[in-house]
Amino acid sequence: MKLLTASILFSLLFTALPAELNSQTLKEAFKEYFLIGGAISDFQAAGKEPEALELAAEQFNTITPENMLKWERVHPEPGKYNFELSDKLIEFGLKNGMFIVGHTLVWHNQTPDWVFKDDNGNYLDREQLLERLREHIHTVVGRYKGKIKGWDVVNEAVDEDGSLRKSKWLEIIGEDYIEKAFEYAHEADPEAELYYNDFNTWHKAKRDGIMKLVRNLLDKGVKIDGIGLQGHWGLDYPSLDELDESLQEYSSTGLKIMITELDINILPTPNNYTGAEITKSFEQQKKYNPYPDGLPDSMQTVLAERYAELFGKFLKYRDSITRVTFWGIHDGHSWLNNWPIRGRTSYPLLFDRELKPKPAFYAVIKTVKEINCK
Ligand code: G3I
Repeated sequence: MKLLTASILFSLLFTALPAELNSQTLKEAFKEYFLIGGAISDFQAAGKEPEALELAAEQFNTITPENMLKWERVHPEPGKYNFELSDKLIEFGLKNGMFIVGHTLVWHNQTPDWVFKDDNGNYLDREQLLERLREHIHTVVGRYKGKIKGWDVVNEAVDEDGSLRKSKWLEIIGEDYIEKAFEYAHEADPEAELYYNDFNTWHKAKRDGIMKLVRNLLDKGVKIDGIGLQGHWGLDYPSLDELDESLQEYSSTGLKIMITELDINILPTPNNYTGAEITKSFEQQKKYNPYPDGLPDSMQTVLAERYAELFGKFLKYRDSITRVTFWGIHDGHSWLNNWPIRGRTSYPLLFDRELKPKPAFYAVIKTVKEINCK
């Protein structure tokens, strides 16, 4: 019975769309409301999957580099910068008239140990580390001045209990490393939008911590333009109420709100972990990889319905939400194939491994029609 209902819903999702919506792209469908885009992997930026870039150009009007601007990639050794892939990504984005987002300047992950140490292996003091941070931000932001239009300046600085994460940045510099990073980014490109970006932003304690951080920056007159809410979500988290409450609260700051890193993990997660901390990992077991040969129609429908309800909320908050970015272009290259368990077959995005739109794609497009009818 359940399967029957699912397959009826599945065919409805395909057939209930009028022809003009059926042929629409994401960027056309949402153009009046917010930018819509995806993360581009190193592999793709290197030109190794041209058909994925074609799809991105067709569907998206904004892109974010998934990994290539993280400190360990772009600045792997003292004095050595590697802009080869990011230059390619920028060229692709500019050629296609896209809003390019830089990710990310300050993070506790993917930052080499040397960053915090001197030539003798001793930890730097506050002033030395601030100078290193300033030099890094000026070099990276400065290179793409006027080309990268928005930066995830600080990523994931708040812990689950709402306190500041105990990172080397906090330990050596102190709490104001966050405002310093924003100040340096603003100096390097005064026109660029500057964002704070985090996951689990709907968890009450963490939400309070992020609000405190953001309000503190605003009170001090630090330039911050937006809050990035990473959408590494599942079928049942966050609940619609939790999402609504958090969108309402973040919108109350008057800042731009962005859904960044959107993907819906439909695979079972050990311990019901909801975060996106890359250092978490679990052992592979068959029960954690239930769809190695393809996603059944019933689950396609469940995913499509989930995406539809989420986009319904995004559209409700369309006056505050300025961008929705998927964390990848298609399922085949999603980070969720290898996290938190390596080697799974994951289905979190709107395009499948053959780059074809899934029922979730049509369901998302359909949410625009619903809003236009209201
Ligand atoms: O490129 C190498 C490849 O040469 C090597 O063979 C392979 C073996 O492990 O690793 C490859 O690099 C991996 C890279 O992803 C590309 O797939 C790294 O090990 C892996 O650590 C890296 O993970 C990235 C992760 O951030 C850590 O930087 C994910 O792709 C990326 O999606 C993920 O993105 C983060 C956001 O930046 C911040 N928010 C959470 C989100 C998910 O963790």
